[in-house]
Parts: sequence; C-alpha cells; structure tokens
Amino acid sequence: MAKVNVDWENLGFSYQPISQRYVANFKEGKWEKGGLTDDANVVINECAGILQYCQEVFEGLKAYKQKDGKVVTFRPDMNAKRMIDSAKRLEMPPVPEEMFLEAVDEVVRANVDWIPPYETGGALYLRPYLFATGPVIGVKPADAYQFRLFGTPVGSYFKNGVKPITICVSDYDRAAPHGTGNIKAGLNYAMSLYPYILAHQNGFDENMYLDSATRTYVEETGGANFLFVTKDHTIVTPKSDSILPSITRRSLVKLAEDMGYKVETRPVKLTELEEFEECGLCGTAAVICPVGKVVDHGKEICFPSGMDEMGPVLTKLYNTLRGIQMGTVEAPEGWIREI
Ligand code: PLP
Ligand code: COI
Repeated sequence: MAKVNVDWENLGFSYQPISQRYVANFKEGKWEKGGLTDDANVVINECAGILQYCQEVFEGLKAYKQKDGKVVTFRPDMNAKRMIDSAKRLEMPPVPEEMFLEAVDEVVRANVDWIPPYETGGALYLRPYLFATGPVIGVKPADAYQFRLFGTPVGSYFKNGVKPITICVSDYDRAAPHGTGNIKAGLNYAMSLYPYILAHQNGFDENMYLDSATRTYVEETGGANFLFVTKDHTIVTPKSDSILPSITRRSLVKLAEDMGYKVETRPVKLTELEEFEECGLCGTAAVICPVGKVVDHGKEICFPSGMDEMGPVLTKLYNTLRGIQMGTVEAPEGWIREI
C-alpha cells in the first residue's frame, strides 16, 4: 500500500498516484469483471485505437470527507450517464451505470486515507476513463477497450483559490456545430492546449471560447461552463449544443431556482457581457471560480463584482453547493452517495 504522504494544506490540482485504481476490459463483445489494482501503469499495443485515432472519453467527479466523518460522492450517477453518451458518440462500448458506480465506490473505499480531511476543504478527484486498446490502422472503431478509474487528492483548480480570475476571448475555436463539444472526449482538450498556453503567455488564466459558426455567442472555457448574474439578480447561462452539459451547472440551476432566483438558459451574446454584474466558471474541478475581467482583443470588460472577491449571488450559490458536498447543508434527494 502506497504511503499517504500529502501536504494537505497546500493541495493544488495535480496528479499524485494513490494506492488503488479500478480496471475492467471489454473484449469479444462484452465487459469482463473489473477490479482494483495497485499498478498505475497501462501497457497497450503500439497501434491501439487511443494512440492512433484518439478514441477516449472520460469523466471527473469528487469524493469528500464530510463534517460528521461520512465519506460521500456527489451525483456519480450523472457522470455515469454522461460517459455513456460520450462513449456512444465515439463508437465505444458504454460502461454500464452499475459498473461505473461500483468502480467509484470501490476506489473511494480502498483509498479513504487519500481523501483530504474535512477542514482542508479539499477532495479526492476521481477520473474515470474509457479508451480503445485494440489495434486499428484503417480509420474505424477498435474492438477492445479498457475502463479505468483512479483518484488524486486535490484542492483548488485555480492557484489563487476563489480569487477572481481574468480571461481572454480566444481566437481559436473549441468545438464545431454538430461536433464533439457536448461530450467529454480527450480530443476536445488536446485541441485546447495551444490556445491555453497562448492565453497564459499573454497573462490570462483561461480562454473564453465563442461559437465557431458566428463567433458572436459565448460558449465555455476549456474546462468549465459560464454563469452570469444580471443587475436584477437573474442568473444567465449559455445554451449551446456544442458545450459540455456540466453537472455542476445543472445542480446550481436547480439550487438557484429553489432559492427563488430566476434562471435563464439561453444563447448569450458576447456583446451582452457589459450588462452583467457577476461572472463565474462552474465545474467539478473549478466548483465556482469568479471571473473579474474578460479581455476581448484589448477591450476590457470588468464586472462590478471586482477583482477582490466573488460577487454576492455567486457566493450564495457557492456556499450552498459546498455545504451540500461537505455535509453542512441538506442535499436534494439522491445527490449524495454515501460510501
Ligand atoms: N465544460 C468543460 C469543457 C469541462 O471539462 C467541464 C468539466 O468537467 C465542465 C464544463 C464542467 O462539467 P461538470 O460540472 O460536470 O464537471
Ligand atoms: C472537471 O471539472 O472534472 C474536468 O474534467 C475539467 C478538467 C479541465 C479538469
């Protein structure tokens, strides 16, 4: 068993191998029984479909140690369902929901010591992924696949925690209409790396991608959806067929509606940004990360919530979501799965 040697107080968002991970293989048309392994390495054929034609999909979710000591995951069934949708789009055999949930439970149970203590505010980030192991040289789906799920202890995704970040409008596109932007496939992230490095070189924390057909509507960043708040405290979030349907966003929309906020899920024009009071990114890794400023080719759009802290509406949503995850706020039915 790997020794648990983690600097809990200074966790960022990086990979650190933990004791056990789950592996299952799909061969000859069916899933074999999966199980835990302590081997963090994958050995595959040189011509495996993942290496040649990028046939891979993944998920991201977190396990938490709650205030009263319970160990839980947040809506893992939603990740299981989304990975089924992603797999179908890339002609891969979907991982059945029960098998996905069993993998989550087993990995969390076997690595409880790697989950950050409640007081640190951290979590065990879980990364389920499915990839083609069978060799292919002509362009076609492979005939063998592997499903794995590992975990790594994490703190904040952005290095300054919940301090507002500055993002830029990218000249590059993330997803085409009718493409793969609405599924969680590694290929979407590979193509965002060049604009990501460019944004960083130019002093920005992230990119805002626009719709690639007209470049007038806001889509998402490389790893999170957008939430905006208007002057009258309506929450606005982009509707698009080429963004990832974020589980965090769907959860926040429900919580916001329950709290009495009006929520609009609709196309959001880039030109509307100046009218918003608050802006944030939401996702499993990001939770809610406030955006203080968007820069569009030199033109600065500064949100009234400022560069010092998250605005009041997003803070309320953040506290409610974090409270549910950490066990201090009652969760809607079925959102918390106790291990
Ligand atoms: N959009 C992209 C491109 C992402 O990678 C993620 C992260 O998973 C999200 C949005 C947020 O989705 P979720 O809230 O399900 O983590
Ligand atoms: C997540 O939030 O789980 C993601 O997959 C985003 C990724 C960029 C870390």
